[in-house]
Amino acid sequence: MSQIPDSVREELAQLRQAVDEHAYLYYVLDAPVISDAEYDRMYRRIVEIEIQYPALISSDSITQKVGGRTLDKFEPFTHASRMYSLENALSEEEFIAFDERISRMLGNSGGIFGNEYFCEPKLDGLAVSIRYENGVYAEAGTRGDGIQGENVSQNVRTIASLPLKLRRKVSITVRGEIFIRTADFEEFNRSREEAGEEIYATARNTAAGSIRQLDSAVTASRPLSIYLYSLVEAQEEGLSSQAQVIDFLRECGLPVNPLGHVCSSRDEVLAFHADLEAMRSGGIVRGMSLPYAIDGMVVKLNDISMWNSLGFTAKAPRYMLAYKWPEAEVATLLNDVSFQISRQGVYSPVAELEPAQLDGVTVARATLHNLDEIERLDIMLGDEVFIKRGGEVIPKIIGRSGRQRDGSERPIPLPSVCSYCESALILDDERSHNLRCPNRDCSGRLVERIAYFASRGVMDIEGFSRKTAAKLVQDGLVNELPDIYRLSVAQLSELEGFADVSAQNIHAAIQATQQQPLWRVICGLEISQVGSQTAKLLARRLGSIDALSTATTEELQRISGIGKVMADDIVAWFADERNQALVQGLAEAGLMMSEEETEADAGPMLFDEKTVVLTGTITFASRDQLKDWLELNGARASSSVSKKTDIVIAGPGAGSKLEKAQSLGLEIWDEMRLIECMRTQASRPSTKPDWWPK
Ligand code: IVH
Repeated sequence: MSQIPDSVREELAQLRQAVDEHAYLYYVLDAPVISDAEYDRMYRRIVEIEIQYPALISSDSITQKVGGRTLDKFEPFTHASRMYSLENALSEEEFIAFDERISRMLGNSGGIFGNEYFCEPKLDGLAVSIRYENGVYAEAGTRGDGIQGENVSQNVRTIASLPLKLRRKVSITVRGEIFIRTADFEEFNRSREEAGEEIYATARNTAAGSIRQLDSAVTASRPLSIYLYSLVEAQEEGLSSQAQVIDFLRECGLPVNPLGHVCSSRDEVLAFHADLEAMRSGGIVRGMSLPYAIDGMVVKLNDISMWNSLGFTAKAPRYMLAYKWPEAEVATLLNDVSFQISRQGVYSPVAELEPAQLDGVTVARATLHNLDEIERLDIMLGDEVFIKRGGEVIPKIIGRSGRQRDGSERPIPLPSVCSYCESALILDDERSHNLRCPNRDCSGRLVERIAYFASRGVMDIEGFSRKTAAKLVQDGLVNELPDIYRLSVAQLSELEGFADVSAQNIHAAIQATQQQPLWRVICGLEISQVGSQTAKLLARRLGSIDALSTATTEELQRISGIGKVMADDIVAWFADERNQALVQGLAEAGLMMSEEETEADAGPMLFDEKTVVLTGTITFASRDQLKDWLELNGARASSSVSKKTDIVIAGPGAGSKLEKAQSLGLEIWDEMRLIECMRTQASRPSTKPDWWPK
């Protein structure tokens, strides 16, 4: 092992302190003082130093949040003190009854001003208990039955806002809620959709599912947040109120909900509850809206010294309450069912409702997903149905209301021909029953395809909306995708709603995308399963559409991250004459059909000429994938260990090769180290394959 210069130790200590401080400013105080780029620079420097001097890696280093360990199953996690649940109240009366019971049991009449409560939003997520030893993250468990949960230490540590080292050297057990912010959830689903992956229905289930991943690299890739709300050893720490507990947690560097505060009377509790109700339905109260889903407000008696005398019911403490709202459900009429076409031609049913108020918003449409859903709900036009928002953004029909039918109801008519091109629709039954327009020239499908092509994740044509696409197709200016590059300013300005200036702007925006990189063009081809990640990989590895179109299944499969199914799909796509014509058209339109920067001139190689041996199992990728990636980064992958070996990467189960490496005193990396090293590649995103540990 190389000598570690003092200057490096010092630099690392300073960097770590600075990064921890900035993470605290960002996540806990919500007051960042440096840019993300500056933060990333410091972070990368830490990674660099740790790679050069692995002996300096410590378990509480900020770099140790990346995940990558895979378990066979979760170990049980026994809670040192029981994790209770909460009693619910669904109305003002029920809250008042709770308040009165406390006063009665404490033998006061609520004091002059009444009981003091600490109130905060009740987040809709997943509860965890986390242990810190001497200020360092030790372990975490799910609630389970309250006595025993599952050990999810490896996963919880990956949550970005959770510090691995506290600002105080305390040994404490804290509890809190893991959740996903609405905007993060939408962004997450957007990128899944773009990659052709299934999207998730609710943020809550996604958060819970993410924590229950056996592969912590998957958890690390999910946009999880956490707020802590309780401290098991509150009295041992000399704290006497819940407000002090929250201050203490914040001082330790733990993220707490900024909306939590003391309410010193019943009226204040009720007023805060009303504010939360308004914010929860999208309202803005005192300049604030809620960036996450909540299912109530938690009311806690602020004075902790009173908690013991109140005690517990069978399942919940008597000094706390979940003060919720009855789940909003409203009955309305199903007026009609319309169908929305997708770029693949699938007709999705949408319920057209008599407009109704739900959680403070007017709802006039609801998703019906597919024909099976219509059958399951057993609904007819004119039926009265219940709708609710649930955790989802778009409301759902839950079923028919109890109202009797009077004979005026009509079965939902299913279209038999496409409303755009009049082709006979066919019934698809792959995953669910759906109507589909089989016509590849259908103008409805074309509009969707153009809108997708122009969208942010693909060619990113600024100011080009679905409406623009619809107008262009309607006026016959665009008959196939490449036509959009042939539009003149004069043609555009004749479109309804396009003044000269906007016509010029959109024209310039379209032309500008001729410079977009190859991967965006590949993405826009709509090859099944090829989303932006794969498109980047293909662009990087093959360098041109020409190379991609002539690659064989075997050649494609040699690229890490490309499996047999995808390789077959790609080959089949290019074998189709119409697709070949599309590629030809896009080339004639002047789009980038090859990568400017090839692998060779992409900057210094990470493993320049180093001989690397892989041994043991690497859990997050196959050996071939890794070998491929190492080679892509300049390594010579070898299978036997000798004096000439530079680095041995040893996963779990490594045997004689590891021993030999140890006896030769070679540089040995474990999986964590490898992942960290991969992360330094962040500046070259196009080398990131699909299996990249996040
Ligand atoms: S305090 C004795 N505070 O609600 C349990 N819980 O229905 C003490 N929850 O299991 C919980 N936000 O998962 C508390 N600000 C908050 C909360 C909260 C969400 C969850 C928690 C608990 C469940 C009980």
